[in-house]
Amino acid sequence: MIKKLRKAVLPVAGLGTRFLPATKALAKEMLPVVDKPLIQYAIEEARAAGIEQFCMVTGRGKTALIDHFDVAYELERTLLERGKTDLLQMLKDMSVEPGSIATVRQQVPLGLGHAIWCARAFIGDDPFAILLPDDLVLADKPCLAQLADVYHATGGNVVAIEEVPREMTNRYGILEVGYDNGKTVEVVGLVEKPAPEDAPSNLSIIGRYVLLPEVVTHLARMERGAGNEVQLTDGMAKMIGNAPFHGLRFDGRRFDCGDKAGFLEAQIAFALKRPDLAGKVRAFLKNYT
Ligand code: UTP
Repeated sequence: MIKKLRKAVLPVAGLGTRFLPATKALAKEMLPVVDKPLIQYAIEEARAAGIEQFCMVTGRGKTALIDHFDVAYELERTLLERGKTDLLQMLKDMSVEPGSIATVRQQVPLGLGHAIWCARAFIGDDPFAILLPDDLVLADKPCLAQLADVYHATGGNVVAIEEVPREMTNRYGILEVGYDNGKTVEVVGLVEKPAPEDAPSNLSIIGRYVLLPEVVTHLARMERGAGNEVQLTDGMAKMIGNAPFHGLRFDGRRFDCGDKAGFLEAQIAFALKRPDLAGKVRAFLKNYT
């Protein structure tokens, strides 16, 4: 029987060094794209895919991420007194079920695989999604919902993939591919950050996954991989052959918001989707071309 996907892990314990000084006292995942923090996009995408329980893997200086989903009593009362019903409704819409967000601490950022292992009690024996909030996807059907469809059809592991230029394979988890129907590919191997000449393809994993709980057992060995970190990719690779494993060429555009240029591009792309901003943004962009 294929278990329904209900859980998501959101690793947010990274240091965000590429965004210093902004991230000295502020979590990278609180940086807004237009007017919404990255973490909120991730939670909303997860909810749209049917996720009911969330676990943030946090570190020092990340409390704002948890406060963001709390009730802001004084703010709500002031908005009510001022008759700002639209803003009140916005806050209501973003509220989550009481008790649905858990947090665990990753005391030392030893790698993404280690961060996921830190959520092992939350994961238990259930399939779970992973969303890296700094990967933002603009799509008609949310990216995780696209992955969830493949998971519910196959009962196996599914990762969101996209093509990257050959010379950039050393930044990503890269697939070795079996059959490929143009949309879904069979994963027969996985390598983290291979040099271009060693990369088995130019298909890279982006920050959306649906995984079986067995990955935790593999991560528990704490084997160090690329960059001397405990790599999620290495743990996932150990599951190949034991259960279906697919990569999905998702519909949509992904923005790497952990990178300055990617973050700026996301601001423009998301603003152009907003009826209240698109005209103004299009007009001022003319000044820069
Ligand atoms: P990144 O590679 O973007 O690292 O992590 P980072 O520390 O966040 O940012 P830079 O490179 O220093 O600017 C990818 C994702 O994995 C999480 C991060 O929070 C981010 O969501 N992560 C990474 C952890 O939670 N723990 C880790 O030990 C490493």
